[in-house]
Amino acid sequence: MNTNTPGSLLLENRAALITGGAGRLGRVIAATLQREGAKVVIADIDRARLTEVAAQLSVTAKAWSVQGDVSQLQEVQKMVARAESLAGPIDILVNAHGIVPVKKFLDMTPDEWDRPFAVNVRGVMLTAQVFAKRWIERKSRGAIVNISSSASRAARPGRPHYAASKAAVNMLTEAMAIELGPYGIRVNAVAPATVLDQVYRGQSEDNPAYVNFTIQGTPLGRTGAPEDVAEAVAFLASDRSDWTTGVVLDVTGGAHVARRLSAPTDTRAK
Ligand SMILES: NC(=O)c1ccc[n+]([C@@H]2O[C@H](COP(=O)([O-])OP(=O)(O)OC[C@H]3O[C@@H](n4cnc5c(N)ncnc54)[C@H](O)[C@@H]3O)[C@@H](O)[C@H]2O)c1
Repeated sequence: MNTNTPGSLLLENRAALITGGAGRLGRVIAATLQREGAKVVIADIDRARLTEVAAQLSVTAKAWSVQGDVSQLQEVQKMVARAESLAGPIDILVNAHGIVPVKKFLDMTPDEWDRPFAVNVRGVMLTAQVFAKRWIERKSRGAIVNISSSASRAARPGRPHYAASKAAVNMLTEAMAIELGPYGIRVNAVAPATVLDQVYRGQSEDNPAYVNFTIQGTPLGRTGAPEDVAEAVAFLASDRSDWTTGVVLDVTGGAHVARRLSAPTDTRAK
């Protein structure tokens, strides 16, 4: 049940590890969870980016960073152990790491096919498994939020391996929710559509063509901001979603329900 009292921060007395925490979404997710009262540890493979983002976060207290590769079990075990030695017991895992390679299906090699599965899917499986085992052992509850993608639900040419890897993240989220629910561990995902550093509102001749195309299929008429994703993550990580698990929440400005370029149905048509 939601135990928040009115006016209290959403994530008071909580601690979170955010993979891909040096990335565009990960860093804003970390700052948002921190704003809501959580201690945060950002984890990333990119040491230089990690140092830069950690410096921004630690302007306010209670933020740390750990470096490693989420696709390798031993590195995940080390990162999690180090994170908990720095921040104390962690009860929120946000998987915001990922790679988005571009390759046409007919040109794809087996190694190219495997890579997004190793990072995007195995990375989620390993981090979730390492935390779940710890939580079960110490009989604590936990919340996992995976960053999926609207590409998991709607195919586009040029990155079939990425889209398939994110569809796998959705199903993994559901499967983990079933197995981990009895231990009090909730597992949810957020599936964002196009999130750019700059938010474009409405179509314009000055916009890149793909931005106009995206906005045309987005009922709310703009591209996403990292904050749009971060707020959804904060909700799913918090007790406010205490009876929610196995959900993939589309955060898309409505793009996931819009039938792009389709004209209104003519009800008189025979
Ligand atoms: N930005 C978008 O429009 C968008 C839309 C839908 C979904 N997503 C998803 O959101 C997540 C974050 O995207 P982003 O836009 O912030 O991308 P980003 O490239 O800025 O961030 C991803 C981070 O993951 C890290 N990373 C990559 N491989 C890793 C590994 N093996 N181990 C540890 N860290 C690793 C990178 O170093 C990077 O900092 C990704 O899963 C992406 O697929 C993004």
